[in-house]
Amino acid sequence: MTRLRVDGVPVDVCEGASLLDAVRAVGTELPTLCHDDRLRPAGSCRTCLVRADGRVTAACVTPAAPGTNVTTAQQDLRDLRRDAVELIVSALPPRALTAGRRSELAETCRTLGITLGKAAPETSGNRDDSHPYIELDRDLCIACGRCVRMCDDVQGTFALTLTGRGADTVVAPGTGGPWAQSDCVACGGCVDTCPTGAITHPGPGRGITTAQPQPEQVRTTCGYCGVGCA
Ligand code: FES
Repeated sequence: MTRLRVDGVPVDVCEGASLLDAVRAVGTELPTLCHDDRLRPAGSCRTCLVRADGRVTAACVTPAAPGTNVTTAQQDLRDLRRDAVELIVSALPPRALTAGRRSELAETCRTLGITLGKAAPETSGNRDDSHPYIELDRDLCIACGRCVRMCDDVQGTFALTLTGRGADTVVAPGTGGPWAQSDCVACGGCVDTCPTGAITHPGPGRGITTAQPQPEQVRTTCGYCGVGCA
């Protein structure tokens, strides 16, 4: 076990744990957008910033070292985390946060009191709805890479990639064409991990022709897989 302190509270975490694990172990919530406990951490969204022995760092990618003093509650850290989320939201259209929308991003914004005030103009839509079971709304992509890591590391399909530069980076099928012509096996892992709703299952019947099997809602055992082995 590794012993460190979070906001003055001693905590023991397992070898290999991150500062995020330690912070959660003392019951403190941090916003996280590019992190999913099932995936290797990326540290790209900068919404989980803490101070470790005086140095500001992303908690999700920083190993918990013995004796580290972690602080989470200073106002400058709160401001930095809020700024990181606001910057992400500022590049998204208003539908990313419409009332009642359920996504990790929407929940994080509600928690932090971030509204649509700085949202980008609504667009007519930049969608790939070529696939019968997966729909991509590129305008809602924040390039967190969770879908890519899920597809690569968990599913082992390697169907997705991040393409573009800077603020224009979005997820895309690795084959370069429409989703329907990619290597996607429709496991649903990308839909399950997407924190914004950029990748979703289409509504009932949309995109389905009579030549294709109708989607069926099933109980599964693994939480993300759409095979339905349960
Ligand atoms: Fe830690 Fe994104 S959740 S940097």
